[in-house]
Amino acid sequence: MDIRAETDRRAGEIEAVIRSYLPGEEGPQKIVMEAMNYSVLAGGKRLRPMLMQETYRMFGGRSEVIGPFMAAIEMIHTYSLVHDDLPAMDNDEYRRGKKTTHAVYGEALGILAGDALLNYAYETALLAFEIEPQNTGIVKALRILAKKAGIYGMVGGQAVDITSEPAKDLTREKLDFVYRLKTGALLESAMMIGAVLAGATVGEQKIMEETAGAIGLAFQIQDDILDLTGTTEDLGKPAGSDEKNHKATYVTFEGLEKAKADVARISEQAIAHMDTLVVRNEFLTELLRYLISRAS
Ligand code: IPE
Ligand code: IPE
Ligand code: MG
Ligand code: MG
Ligand code: MG
Repeated sequence: MDIRAETDRRAGEIEAVIRSYLPGEEGPQKIVMEAMNYSVLAGGKRLRPMLMQETYRMFGGRSEVIGPFMAAIEMIHTYSLVHDDLPAMDNDEYRRGKKTTHAVYGEALGILAGDALLNYAYETALLAFEIEPQNTGIVKALRILAKKAGIYGMVGGQAVDITSEPAKDLTREKLDFVYRLKTGALLESAMMIGAVLAGATVGEQKIMEETAGAIGLAFQIQDDILDLTGTTEDLGKPAGSDEKNHKATYVTFEGLEKAKADVARISEQAIAHMDTLVVRNEFLTELLRYLISRAS
């Protein structure tokens, strides 16, 4: 399998699903819809909906019910990026190869477009009830989405990330906590929702949550590595953002070589954990392995 080509092809298909759930740009509030659509359609790897869809398929899911949730998680992820780039947070001007939302539409609309994407994510996910009213997993999936995006997940991680001072109170343990929440939680949500909607058992859901948590940790360590070693052109976002913001990252604590080795080790352990399941998805396994060496 040419994993790179296959990932690109699937990202294109996912893009069409996401696009079909985006709001029309109309009415006096048109500008906020434009800002939402600008940030979602700017590109991106579409990793979270991809992990969700592949987990759903792995557990035998075959219906369109996954579509609204795929769009919803990408909306929440995109909102987290729009807010992460704001002047009050990482103050970055490029994202996904384009000007950030606040750089194009102004700070106030950057905030509002983020809020709107978060809210619209739930408006969208709720459409799943119309597609498969009898699927009792939908309520559980909504609960997972809400919890992993909030104070016990992404927002909680971002809050600790932004308020920790490297020289004073940031320990390795705290950094792990931040990574598990700010990045891991949305990946956990993606894979758990795929499992839940396909009717996986509670034990299977737990294995997917643990797998995704570890993959999330590795993914954020790789993000830190690329911030240091990548180029703005390849990344589509400013290289050196962490240094600019005087952030201590996994690389600061462990050094570049150990960080690289840990990405591979943590990812392989996660894949082995997923392999304890009776079900298999060859593409998903390949994708998780491909992330170890990703350059963007
Ligand atoms: C960036 O996520 C933010 C992190 C959690 C590291 P991605 O690297 O998945 O960003 P896109 O969606 O491809 O732009
Ligand atoms: C933020 O981590 C992860 C989010 C929850 C948005 P970073 O601040 O390192 O993400 P990038 O490098 O800007 O994508
Ligand atoms: Mg940040
Ligand atoms: Mg950032
Ligand atoms: Mg980063």
